[in-house]
Amino acid sequence: MSGDVREASAKACANIALAKYWGKSDVKRNVPAVPSISMTLDLLVTETRVRFDPELSADLVRLDGRRASAGEAERVVTMLNRVRREARLRSKATVASHNRFPTAAGLASSASGFAALAAAASAAAGLRLSNRKLSALARASSASAARSIFGGFVELPAGQRGDDDLAARQIAPANHWNLRFVVALTEPGKKKVGSTEGMERSRQTSPYYASWLDQAPKWSRKIKRAIKDRELDVLGAAMEQSTLAFHCCAITSDPPIFYWAPATLAALATVRGLRQRGVSAWATMDAGPHVKALCHAADAPRVRQALDKTSGVTRTWVTKPGPGIEVQR
Ligand code: DP6
Repeated sequence: MSGDVREASAKACANIALAKYWGKSDVKRNVPAVPSISMTLDLLVTETRVRFDPELSADLVRLDGRRASAGEAERVVTMLNRVRREARLRSKATVASHNRFPTAAGLASSASGFAALAAAASAAAGLRLSNRKLSALARASSASAARSIFGGFVELPAGQRGDDDLAARQIAPANHWNLRFVVALTEPGKKKVGSTEGMERSRQTSPYYASWLDQAPKWSRKIKRAIKDRELDVLGAAMEQSTLAFHCCAITSDPPIFYWAPATLAALATVRGLRQRGVSAWATMDAGPHVKALCHAADAPRVRQALDKTSGVTRTWVTKPGPGIEVQR
């Protein structure tokens, strides 16, 4: 490849899993052991610019205007190395990534970040990858990022050891179903145990991990069908079970991992209370204390108001199904 400067940028939306991914069947290749399903969110966007420059002597990574920590930079450089190998490119790169959402700490997602990085780096390197290939590339860095390549409702199948090509696919576009996720921020601060470490500890030490592997595909199948049929009560019940089951693995790990804060339980009670009053609202949590409530668009103001009044909830946002990856060369 020639020694020109090459650059591109990409925009990706975060996603929230309806059927949760927790645990890997191949740690080195980052292959999930269970199928997962997500909704891509319109509001939580990451924009990333990558510039390969033959004059540079090292990769430079900036996140939200600050220099990336050594750990953050290492994951980015691993992705850049994969892209350089594929494009037969030697130049180092500058990477600048911005989260276009209220960056109250704790919501930033690796999903939108690695999806945008995969798309920007491969476009800058001159690779013309299909969305399927981009998704497999993003998955190798962070499996939830594989889902953020696509808009709307997306599934990532489980994979086997040695699976290099595992990628996500769209189940239904964003306009298939007018749902909302009301995101309730409970407690500021970074997650205490990152998801990569948390799921690995669960795999190695939780006595319930084997049942999780056994049960997770069932919830995933239910959720996929419920999306096709637009059955929120069926989807919501399976989503809550999937959430509680993976948190059960985390809590019963050794040493245990408690992602929840008191406000997490308060928000869960709020969501159950809404259901008792006839509002179809359903909760999920990721590797952190924040609660995301899924509901019909028409119910979103009521769900938001109830969560705003919940003790310990500091902020809320309403997000809807969002688009897939966008690249500017
Ligand atoms: C709880 O995709 O962050 O949010 O593949 O190790 O980077 P790595 O993990 P990551 O895990 C996300 C876990 C989750 C559930 C989900 O998004 O499916």
